Amino acid sequence: MYLTTLLLLLGASTVLAERPFVNEPDTGLRLDEIQTGTLPQLKDMHTIPDFEAAARHYMPIQNYSYYRTGSSGEFSYRAALEIFNEVKLRPRFLRDMSNISLSTSVFNYTFSVPFFIAPAARAGLAHPGAEVNFVRAAGVGKVLYSPSLSSTLKIEQIGSAALPEQVMFHQLYVSKNKTKLASDLKRIEKSGFKAIFVTIDNPIHGIRPREARYGFSNVTDHDSAFSWDSYQELRKMTHLPVIPKGVQTVEDALIALQLGAPGIYISNHGGRQLDTSPQAIETCLEIYQNAPEIFKRMEVFADGGVRYGTDVLKLLAMGVKMVGMARPFLFANVFGEEGIWRAIEMMRREVWVDAANLGVRDVREIDTSYLNMKRLERFVWEMK
Ligand SMILES: Cc1cc2nc3c(=O)[nH]c(=O)nc-3n(C[C@H](O)[C@H](O)[C@H](O)COP(=O)(O)O)c2cc1C
Ligand SMILES: *[C@@H]1O[C@H](CO)[C@@H](O)[C@H](O)[C@H]1NC(C)=O
Ligand SMILES: *[C@@H]1O[C@H](CO)[C@@H](O)[C@H](O)[C@H]1NC(C)=O
Ligand SMILES: *[C@@H]1O[C@H](CO)[C@@H](O)[C@H](O)[C@H]1NC(C)=O
Ligand SMILES: *[C@@H]1O[C@H](CO)[C@@H](O)[C@H](O)[C@H]1NC(C)=O
Ligand SMILES: *[C@@H]1O[C@H](CO)[C@@H](O)[C@H](O)[C@H]1NC(C)=O
Repeated sequence: MYLTTLLLLLGASTVLAERPFVNEPDTGLRLDEIQTGTLPQLKDMHTIPDFEAAARHYMPIQNYSYYRTGSSGEFSYRAALEIFNEVKLRPRFLRDMSNISLSTSVFNYTFSVPFFIAPAARAGLAHPGAEVNFVRAAGVGKVLYSPSLSSTLKIEQIGSAALPEQVMFHQLYVSKNKTKLASDLKRIEKSGFKAIFVTIDNPIHGIRPREARYGFSNVTDHDSAFSWDSYQELRKMTHLPVIPKGVQTVEDALIALQLGAPGIYISNHGGRQLDTSPQAIETCLEIYQNAPEIFKRMEVFADGGVRYGTDVLKLLAMGVKMVGMARPFLFANVFGEEGIWRAIEMMRREVWVDAANLGVRDVREIDTSYLNMKRLERFVWEMK
């Protein structure tokens, strides 16, 4: 009897000790009978992680590895996928959930959902339609898309694929070459983009073993001298709102606020830059506890590891206005525009169902009373 218990405990602790990190949870998707290199069926995608499993099965390993890579030990990459379970939800009931609103406005532009397609380089590694697939699916769904400056297609090709009323933002890397920087800004404006996310979290390209293994270059023309002063100069070069992307501390959020930035984008670059850098929800809690006015006085965007409706709702509850997702849509793009459309609709339905079951009729009204953050608070930095 005792021996059996002991053996069971030993068995359990071995399992816990190994706790191998799998890319996705077991969703019941069966790929073992489909030949590697063959595209599974879109109808078999039932949850966002299914798209990554399907993409890994189908894509050439080098293409997949570029999307999948994190930096160094990939601790931030993995933590992004696990941290949302550290925050528990506090659902409220009997409030008439027959009419849920997901609509969200930012800089006076209204979108149908509070999540958006985050900037990600090289959509062409998954599908020849590349970024145009994202533009089309986002346009039909009234979803915000912000292409990357390192896209497969040209700024003009992406801009011209938009529907007449479609609003898109554009990501910017500040080039060392000032002629190129000025020309990038002009091209983004002329192509009709309405705001700029300028990436601040990569003075130097991160250490990315999984990407280097397949020969992707770590050489960029990003200006390592980019500073808050040059951020202010940059803002004078364009009439578009310029939002720093990659804010990870309350200190930097406060600098942005003091400089009059129109917003901030909390992100650790999908765990691809500085490993063990914080997750968006941790940075949100740090800001919430030390300078909560930030969420009221600027538009706050955030991303990293968002795969479910509940992940979106948790970031919104902290005060984030719009929640970004990159890899889910990159992987969905193996199915082309239709795959991205399906991923958008899957997320739309999840946010709607989860909001209803949480007791939130209008996503604009969610707040921290819906969260239990006791476990997360252990890590929060207190400003002196
Ligand atoms: C393949 C890939 C390429 C990316 N390219 C860019 C980029 O060009 N500019 C940028 O600011 N962020 C880039 N990111 C970071 C994303 O914008 C985003 O912050 C992050 O991936 C969100 O995490 P998620 O992939 O778990 O949703 C990239 C991410 C991935 C996965
Ligand atoms: C649901 O709410 C919206 C406003 O949020 C309103 O315009 C619409 O008429 C409502 N629909 C129903 C069926 O009550
Ligand atoms: C949004 O619209 C309001 C009213 O029309 C205006 O006062 C405000 O300046 C606008 N905000 C932005 C960021 O454009
Ligand atoms: C893999 O990436 C290359 C570009 O490096 C592209 O030409 C090829 O089509 C991609 N493969 C797939 C299956 O999309
Ligand atoms: C700088 O950028 C401009 C415009 O893109 C380009 O024509 C020029 O060759 C670049 N200069 C250098 C030194 O790379
Ligand atoms: C890029 O990689 C090469 C070879 O691994 C290395 O020598 C070089 O220092 C790297 N550059 C940067 C900016 O990390």
